[in-house]
Amino acid sequence: MRILVTGGAGYIGSHTILELLSAGYDVVAMDNFSNSKPAVIDRLYAVSGVRFRFYEADLGDSLALDKIFIENKIDGVINFAGAKAVGESVEKPLKYYRNNLSGMINLLETMARFECRQFVFSSSATVYGAGGTPPFREEDPLGALNPYGSTKLMGETILRDVSAADPEFSAAILRYFNPIGAHPSGMLGEDPAGIPNNLLPYIARVAVGRLPYLTVFGDDWPTPDGTGIRDYIHVVDLARGHVAALAYLAAHPGCVTANLGTGRGHSVLEVLHAFERACGRQIPYEVGPRRPGDNAVSYADCTRARELFGWQAQLGLEEMCADSWRFIQQNPDGIQ
Ligand code: UFG
Repeated sequence: MRILVTGGAGYIGSHTILELLSAGYDVVAMDNFSNSKPAVIDRLYAVSGVRFRFYEADLGDSLALDKIFIENKIDGVINFAGAKAVGESVEKPLKYYRNNLSGMINLLETMARFECRQFVFSSSATVYGAGGTPPFREEDPLGALNPYGSTKLMGETILRDVSAADPEFSAAILRYFNPIGAHPSGMLGEDPAGIPNNLLPYIARVAVGRLPYLTVFGDDWPTPDGTGIRDYIHVVDLARGHVAALAYLAAHPGCVTANLGTGRGHSVLEVLHAFERACGRQIPYEVGPRRPGDNAVSYADCTRARELFGWQAQLGLEEMCADSWRFIQQNPDGIQ
């Protein structure tokens, strides 16, 4: 099986490539490096020892997609290419609709021309924005709170419609909770440009002295310590979830939706203290106001992924923090 990984130089894409190679898949990858670095591809070659084919290309470029499909017999696609910053999506909605939806439609059209019928879609727990109660289950009511969330909901709808129209098409919609951690080699990890939006990369930069302190967004949430609770999942577990989903798709046409999380929630302060244990130093923090759009608690019911894919997260918060710490220590200024 040869799998095209779009967004292959990104955080989740790069880890998934390694897991695909370990599981014996052939990989072809593409990325436009809009939010990632070419050095990631060299590191993937070094860690895996496999020189898979890589194309610098944009999903908006149908000719480039055609070239990839002409030069490689692609059996399935995992589409990680997309923009993912909630705040930016509110300011630049069209960027999100173009990148995340036009790009995906181009890709699906190309796949149809080349009779490629397996697709794995990166959705997000953000689709549970309808205000339900965790643990979130796949059949819970859905809603979007911002353009980024809307692109995920619409992407899911597009895939359900495409698979309804073609009985041989199969799709896995994977709703990620909060991926953190890094590859145990310390060579790959989350390396956002600018000031990080997300908790773990922010804590990691405070730990290495690149930022002075963490601002905790509110300690008056209705949780035991007053800080927000999320379902953090090790990125290597998440990557393995994609491999498990692909194996399922090969035998089950149709469209399946599954949460990828651990089923456990941790508060901001729990994560902070776990990171302090991992790095052996104190992380300064201040409590600030709540961040607009945040909610108190989010965690997954992971029953479906376990039952259908035989997949379950294995790694805990300690490993997530230890691996993030190793990555930032080895790459204090990011991947160069
Ligand atoms: N937090 C802080 N300080 C920070 C950053 C985050 O206290 O500097 C808190 C947040 O308030 C929240 C928790 O840490 O309680 C996690 O925040 P993240 O920004 O790391 O993650 P979110 O849960 O807000 O967002 C993630 C993804 C989004 C996705 C969303 C819902 O980044 O893409 O989950 O699924 F939309």
